[in-house]
Amino acid sequence: MTGASTGIGLEIALNLARAGYKLALTSRDTARLESVIADQDFAGVTTIPIELELTSEASIDNAIATATEFLGGLDVLVNNAAAALVKPAVEVTWDDWDRVVDANLKGAYFLSCRFAQHCMDAGHGGAVISIASTHGLLGFGGRTVYGTSKGGLIQMARMLAIEWADKDIRVNTVAPATVMTESRKKSLDPEARKTMLGRIPSGRFPEPADIAGAVRYLASPDAGSVTGQTLVVDGGLSVA
Ligand SMILES: NC(=O)c1ccc[n+]([C@@H]2O[C@H](COP(=O)([O-])OP(=O)(O)OC[C@H]3O[C@@H](n4cnc5c(N)ncnc54)[C@H](OP(=O)(O)O)[C@@H]3O)[C@@H](O)[C@H]2O)c1
Repeated sequence: MTGASTGIGLEIALNLARAGYKLALTSRDTARLESVIADQDFAGVTTIPIELELTSEASIDNAIATATEFLGGLDVLVNNAAAALVKPAVEVTWDDWDRVVDANLKGAYFLSCRFAQHCMDAGHGGAVISIASTHGLLGFGGRTVYGTSKGGLIQMARMLAIEWADKDIRVNTVAPATVMTESRKKSLDPEARKTMLGRIPSGRFPEPADIAGAVRYLASPDAGSVTGQTLVVDGGLSVA
């Protein structure tokens, strides 16, 4: 799973470890990831730190090869890592677009394809779960590039779900509303935070554990007939 060293990704990794999954965890900074792994309780499961830069095809190929070598095979891919951007649309630069869309959409696409090819070659099914966002479903100002990348992940899941259905490779997304991770606390000023919270009918931001639980369900045999879907974890925001 990608982007495992912080926030929602770390919580997903810990949840999957408690469910008994052996884990290949990625970060662009493996030293930092190794120290996070050492500090957390991974329930005694095998945990491999792998360097991954999602904007590099070579890095994606290397991550899949390394994970396969160390774990002996792959059943589940969680596309969690993402780059964020909050900027008025007209101020977005060409490089901003590439940084965000290349990591969030292009990287997730090619990682999903390499993972699916591995499953096909090995003759078994698999599950891809990408962390999208309510920003990929609803309109918000200042987040057009990020939201476009997340909307792309949602449509990518539908398309790949159909293409790989007969191979028993399921492809789904989880779309959280704002989760107060460290990175999100930094990017949301108190006024924006209040406005965001005011739009959520449940009156609370989803917790990382809520997202991790949704991922664990979609990875499990309980979701064996669920593919091409988006599980929205937003306290009712998108249906209010
Ligand atoms: N927090 C929210 O409010 C919220 C709401 C909805 C959806 N989401 C989504 O949930 C996921 C996790 O969110 P979070 O708040 O926990 O994010 P985060 O703290 O910003 O962590 C995202 C991770 O992605 C990795 N990453 C970024 N760019 C990368 C690149 N080019 N190549 C490889 N890895 C890269 C980084 O890991 P390294 O620095 O270790 O490489 C980073 O730790 C993301 O997909 C986010 O879009 C978050």
